[in-house]
This record gives sequence, structure tokens and C-alpha cells, in this order.
Amino acid sequence: MLRDHRDRPVDGGDWFLHHGTDVETRWDEDVPHLTPNDRFFVRNHTRPPVVDVETWRLLVTGDGVSGEATYSLAELQAFTSTTVERALECTGNGRKLFADQQGAARPGTQWGLGAIGVARWTGVPLRTGLRHAGLRDDAVQVMPVGLDDPFVEDGVDHGRVRRPLPMAKALDDALIAWEMNGEPLPADHGFPARLIVPGWVGIASIKWLGELRVTTSVVDSPWNTTWYRMHGEGWSGDDAVLDVMPPKSILDVTGRLEAGRMSVLRGRAWSGEATVSVVELSTDGGATWQETTLTGPNEPSSWVEWEHAWTPSQAGPHELVTRATDSRGRRQPVQAPLNDDGYLFWAAIRHPVTVAESSLVSSRAGTPGRPPPVD
Ligand code: MTE
Repeated sequence: MLRDHRDRPVDGGDWFLHHGTDVETRWDEDVPHLTPNDRFFVRNHTRPPVVDVETWRLLVTGDGVSGEATYSLAELQAFTSTTVERALECTGNGRKLFADQQGAARPGTQWGLGAIGVARWTGVPLRTGLRHAGLRDDAVQVMPVGLDDPFVEDGVDHGRVRRPLPMAKALDDALIAWEMNGEPLPADHGFPARLIVPGWVGIASIKWLGELRVTTSVVDSPWNTTWYRMHGEGWSGDDAVLDVMPPKSILDVTGRLEAGRMSVLRGRAWSGEATVSVVELSTDGGATWQETTLTGPNEPSSWVEWEHAWTPSQAGPHELVTRATDSRGRRQPVQAPLNDDGYLFWAAIRHPVTVAESSLVSSRAGTPGRPPPVD
């Protein structure tokens, strides 16, 4: 159930697919370039805490700062703020496709591809907050800690949701955000302040920030050792670490497709810490590819829209496939690498569609009724 910042239930309407306490944005509706706050996917380990912003403080602690600091929301907002358009995507986005496309079902929330959204986030760079607190040169990481209830599973209390962030990323483009698309963060999305870690796995962007633990040595949490890490055959060492998200692409709603009639296909593509260089479309199940036209903004760690005109020559089932290549040269593979928990499904997505008979042919032949709907 979605809740507003006063902990009142919000009607999520039909915008979402529901997965227990989590919700996924539906792709069978027109999704605007910026995902509206009330249509943005939600992934909560427990539930949003009720935070009194008057008494809320962000603590900066640990041996990586010269002294402890606290910030009220007003104090954070007194720093020079910045606004960026960035995607936020769950590490398990697309997990259902391991079963659908690769016959390898993986446990966990069966996300389609809607565990992603793009918003304009306003806040202060994390480096500003850390430096103002007396960041030491030998600090190696910061552990942001959420104020939601400790996560308990099978009787084991894993403590508050937290995940270490290496100092290089913390000092680069991580943001302490308090606004989402020009509004205070909704309760489900981290009110009053959250981290936004552009291009990284969604778990890095800790919500309901309560503490930033800065240390001069590496400290782990179950959110980088047990979960949100690759497990299974072939995964070890640095390869198993999850940080930057790979490129992905999708076909939006197609509308009615008809043999002999031109349709403009549209979709979008995105990638972590990169812009999208090209999106290709195959109308024959991946045998041949055509380059699509990118339209609109193409920010790093956000998404770009693409379009392509297609005149199907034959009615019947077709398989459309999209694949993106990003500015780092990464291209979506045919198969996503298998792993036990179904993270990072980034294979080229196969979209089965049905092309209707030409209405011109049908009306000449005097066929009554409407052609069959498109899948
Ligand atoms: N932060 C806290 N404190 N608690 C959480 O449950 N979920 C994480 C991350 N930050 C989480 C959190 C995960 S797994 C994701 S994908 C994103 O928040 C989801 O952000 P959203 O719910 O605002 O879309």
C-alpha cells in the first residue's frame, strides 16, 4: 500500500502491478519521459517510517570525519542545491524475463521491466555534506543508513537498511535529495531526504536517510555481501560486485499493426553512468537489425526515447527485438548472464506482436467485423 508523508494510504489506482509491499510501473500505459511521482515504482524492505521533519536530523559519524556533524533539512537546503534528471532502477528489474526468455526462473520479486523510473531530483551533492562535516583524506567509504524499521527475515534481524558506497562514487555525483519532480519526496520515496546514486543499482540510493557513517576502513553490510551481489556458478571476487547498471531498451505500446500499413514504433533505452549511443530494432526475431532514431533528451544514467517506422509486409505473429549500445560501448547481449538471484537482466528484449490483415484487402473481400486486436 502506498502512503503519503503523513502515513495516509494513497490510492495507486491502476498505474501499478502489485508485488506484496512493492509496486511496478506498467508499460502498457503511455509512460511520460519523467515518471510522475504517483506512478514511480516502489521497493520497500519494510515500510516507510513516519518522520517529523522538525526534529529530523541527518547525522554524519565515523572515523572518516574529523568530528560528528548533524544537518536539519533547512541546513541542507541552505547549501547550493542542484537538480538532475536521473533514472532509479531496481537491481532485480526484469527478473521475470529470466523465466520468460531464458527458461531459467529465479526466486524473488517477479519484476517485469517496470522497476525503473526517471525523475528530476533536487538536493545537495553528497561531497558537500561530507566535506562540510570534516571529511578526512584517508576516508574510504560512506555507509548511508535508512530510518525504516530494521529488516527481519526468518527470525534474523539484519539491522537497518544500509549499503557501503565507495568514496570515489560518493565524491563524484551522489546526491542528498529532498525533492522529486519539484515536490517534497513522497513518503514511499524517502521523505524527507534520500540518497540518489546515479547509474548504480537502486539499493545504493538509501531512502529516509538518518546517518552517514564515514570510515577509514571497509565495512560491509548484508546489502552488499548477502543480497545485491552476484551468487552462483562463475561469480567471484570483483565480478560479483554490483554497482553500475548495464544498458537496456524496451518497446512502448505499439498500437494496432497492420500488414502493408506504416506504423511508427516507439520505445526507450537507458544505461548506468552512460548515454545511449544507438538503439537497434529487429522485426524478424533478431536475424537482421535496423538503427532507430533517438529523440529528446539523452542524459547519462537516464533514458532516451527512440522511434522507427515499420511497414510489415505480412500479417501474423512477429517477434520484435530491441537492443541498445551505450557510450561506454556496452551492447545488450542475446542472453543475460545467469545468477542465483536473478539480478541484472539486460538481454535484448523480445516483444511478440500480431500484425493484422490489411484492412484494404479485408474490405475489398467484404470481410465483416474488425481485425483482431494487437497483442
Ligand atoms: N532505502 C531504505 N532505507 N529502505 C529500502 O527498503 N530500498 C532500496 C532503495 N533504498 C530501500 C532503500 C531499493 S532495493 C530500491 S530499488 C530503491 O530504494 C527504490 O526506490 P523507490 O522505492 O523510491 O523507487
